[in-house]
Amino acid sequence: MKIDIKNAIENQCNGLLRTKSFINGVWVSSENESTFEVTNPFDNSVIANVANLGGSETKKAIDSANEAFKTWSKTTAEERSRLLKKLYQLQLDHIEELAQLLTLEQGKPLVESRGEIKYGASFIEWFAEEAKRTYGDTIPSHGHDKRIITLKQAVGVVAAITPWNFPNAMITRKIAPALAAGCTVVIKPAHQTPLSALALAALVEKAGFPKGVFNVITSDTAKEIGDELTANPIVRKLSFTGSTKVGKTLMRQCSDTVKKVSMELGGNAPFIVFEDANIDNAVRGAIASKYRNAGQTCVCTNRIFVHDNVYQTFVDKFTVAVNKLKMGSGLDEETAIGPLINSDAVTFIDGLVKNAVGEGAKLITGGEKIADKENFYPPTILTNVTNSMEICRNEIFGSIAPIIRFKDEAEVVKMANDTPYGLASYFYSNDYAKIWRVSEGLEYGMVGINTGMISTTVAPFGGIKESGNGREGSKYGMDEYLEIKYVCIGGVL
Ligand code: SIN
Repeated sequence: MKIDIKNAIENQCNGLLRTKSFINGVWVSSENESTFEVTNPFDNSVIANVANLGGSETKKAIDSANEAFKTWSKTTAEERSRLLKKLYQLQLDHIEELAQLLTLEQGKPLVESRGEIKYGASFIEWFAEEAKRTYGDTIPSHGHDKRIITLKQAVGVVAAITPWNFPNAMITRKIAPALAAGCTVVIKPAHQTPLSALALAALVEKAGFPKGVFNVITSDTAKEIGDELTANPIVRKLSFTGSTKVGKTLMRQCSDTVKKVSMELGGNAPFIVFEDANIDNAVRGAIASKYRNAGQTCVCTNRIFVHDNVYQTFVDKFTVAVNKLKMGSGLDEETAIGPLINSDAVTFIDGLVKNAVGEGAKLITGGEKIADKENFYPPTILTNVTNSMEICRNEIFGSIAPIIRFKDEAEVVKMANDTPYGLASYFYSNDYAKIWRVSEGLEYGMVGINTGMISTTVAPFGGIKESGNGREGSKYGMDEYLEIKYVCIGGVL
């Protein structure tokens, strides 16, 4: 079934298509009335013109979050939980409109957008529950006359800088624990996908959160907003999802005011197929992990390592599966691969393919730009790849699958770890001893065994090395927004 784009946009006017920023509970334009265009990556058509704010409005948002913090941080966990549950329900009530809006501005297939809205809602529900479980400790004392306890308290005003690849879920994964902990938030969504963030703000307003607790700054001048969010001493915590390069800059900038930071940065995920693996399952897992969101996720498979004895079988079956993936508009229900975010992304990955072929890789399928579709790149397979090729040193963030042959377990673990990144990793094996050895040997924050899909609210999401620090989701996710205060009571005789 094809959905008419014009109608889809009009559907959003049902209260959720907003084009102004949201500060202190009010929908605001920029001080100089400027706007920027949000386009549909499918055909570069303009979807909306959105308020283009700068440093001065960002400062106002921070001040309003600071004012709101005085009362929000004093509410009970039960009160915060109740509002979050309302927001959770509202998000589920509006899955269809939110998913269409997300596909329009981001490009991913509708089925994935619906999945993202549910995934995003799951963080709100989870942290609505966790809000009530931020326990402190009583600690056996070091002195007869002393008693020791710990309190967990909200860190304060939180800034969240969020990416375009998951315009809803990467916001809820940050703001749900922040709000549950008693923090207030200022969000700067990616300029490519501000509409999903503003739709969420509309739901926050509808749920009845107090003014100033949740603020969204839209802008296409990321640097100006980032400079204010990182330099302003009122902001006590920055949570960022995006590239390692930008993450490093933000960390440096946050050091002047010694902010708490969580960084979910780039990845270079290995996907290893051992000779004892079930190859059909491995092919399914590789498709899911490589081609979700056209390869534009931080946990997407970046390098596929296949054992010599099963190499050709895997390549043949994987090629058949890849050639079945239908490319097209995300609004078409049959589409499996939508556009990339823009033509720069296409140019980047096309360059990686051409260089790999120049370095000796063999093109099995795909590998050419599509004449009349500027933002599309076909699902592509390269074989004869080596781990030292440029394509294996970069985060691809697109629909290319480079396949590398290996012979030995120790050799493949060494190659898998030979990268500054350490976010997600995957492998397929049915040998229990190997499963333990390889899980322990992979230098990654997350390991998927016999599965290509590991993302869930209930597990800690995050990386090591240059993939970042901190964990999102799970029972650990709240800690990122809480300080532990030690209280020592003397004179107890
Ligand atoms: C990301 O790409 O940053 C997140 C993907 C996920 O949560 O699965």
